[in-house]
Amino acid sequence: MADLLLIDIGTLAGITTPGKLKLAGKEMASLGQINHAYLYIKNGLIDSFGSMETLPLDLQSNTSVEQINCQGRFVLPCYVDSHTHIVFARTREEEFEMRIKGKSYEEIAEAGGGILNSARRTHEMSEEELFQQALGRLNEVISYGTGAIEIKSGYGLSVEDELKMLRVIQRIKEVSPIPVKATFLGAHAFPLAYTQNRKGYIQIIIDEMLPKISALSLADYMDVFCDQGFFTPEETTQLLLAAKGFGLKPKIHGNELGYSGGVQTAVQNNALSVDHLEYTGEQEIACLLNSDTMPVALPGCSFFLGIPYAPLRKMIDAGLPVCLASDYNPGSTPNGRMGFVVSLACTQMKLTPEEALNAATLNGAYALELSHQLGSIEIGKLGNVMITKPMENLAQIPYFFGSDRTYKTIVRGEVFKEINC
Ligand code: NIG
Ligand code: FE
Repeated sequence: MADLLLIDIGTLAGITTPGKLKLAGKEMASLGQINHAYLYIKNGLIDSFGSMETLPLDLQSNTSVEQINCQGRFVLPCYVDSHTHIVFARTREEEFEMRIKGKSYEEIAEAGGGILNSARRTHEMSEEELFQQALGRLNEVISYGTGAIEIKSGYGLSVEDELKMLRVIQRIKEVSPIPVKATFLGAHAFPLAYTQNRKGYIQIIIDEMLPKISALSLADYMDVFCDQGFFTPEETTQLLLAAKGFGLKPKIHGNELGYSGGVQTAVQNNALSVDHLEYTGEQEIACLLNSDTMPVALPGCSFFLGIPYAPLRKMIDAGLPVCLASDYNPGSTPNGRMGFVVSLACTQMKLTPEEALNAATLNGAYALELSHQLGSIEIGKLGNVMITKPMENLAQIPYFFGSDRTYKTIVRGEVFKEINC
């Protein structure tokens, strides 16, 4: 928790009206900005900001407050990455090569690869090694500008290994300088031994996993992969109702592989978010319009798997809020750079840079129930901001695709330095 004064900011962007928790439809097009600005973070929280002409003289001359002269660089709120799987054991290049040669993600999964492949490797890896690897990924994404993150389990698929993953996430929470939310994703796939006994695995989740996770307070949310070849809408609803009994709010992986009913199931269960949405039509849009469920797109997954992109342009034009997240995982998206996600949203989904940045910041915070605290420049919010490399305008963030414009990430008023433990 530090004090920090940023002066000579070229443009301070991402300023919202106090109390605004998400942006929808046309609202997404504007990103509040002040040119030639200052930003003062006190005790880790945004205390004041404005144009340089309004910077109080006593603050500028206060030698006990660390100052950074931004020399005309941009300052924006950090990205909020509301969907990741950064606790995983080993990468899956062999499947990547199988897909290059023509196999689909589903075919690989049906043959025991995919999520089940990661589950076998998670079982074999020690908790300490899983932790160290996840910590490395956390360090990496914070340095690219991520200022809050969600992490899912879901590569355990047994009582013992789901708990192991959630304990690793808990340890990450304890050492992370940025807020972390933990999501239980035991319903990510059916383990091989239960493919003919789906009810049996669902009962293990409900009767064994959920009570233990709840007793140890290891999760904030419950997620289910409600999609073709994975969990049905009925199974998803059964699981989410049980989770609610343990105080876990729902999130859903849905409509990645087909019109699976994932969106309707999410809305019926008042899910906080429904994520993926590559298969979203008029019915799904109409359903989301009557809800508080945040639609979350994961364009890195579409890019890597070569599947359709979620129709975010249509969704915004229909008046919906939309959110962008990385989905960083070893199978469908081995990349956690939110700058690249923003770029894909512009080039592939036709969002403007302002819409994409709002989707990756304030609306990401909403999907984690953190938008009162993060996701925009507002007095009282956490001082988690990024200073960019020299840029001419905001559009250069998505324009230089794959090449982050982040120069320094500030976390609670301190320049981020790698966490080691
Ligand atoms: O969000 N689609 C489901 N789960 C992950 C991928 C998991 C994996 O392939 O390891 C996703 O893309
Ligand atoms: Fe995912």
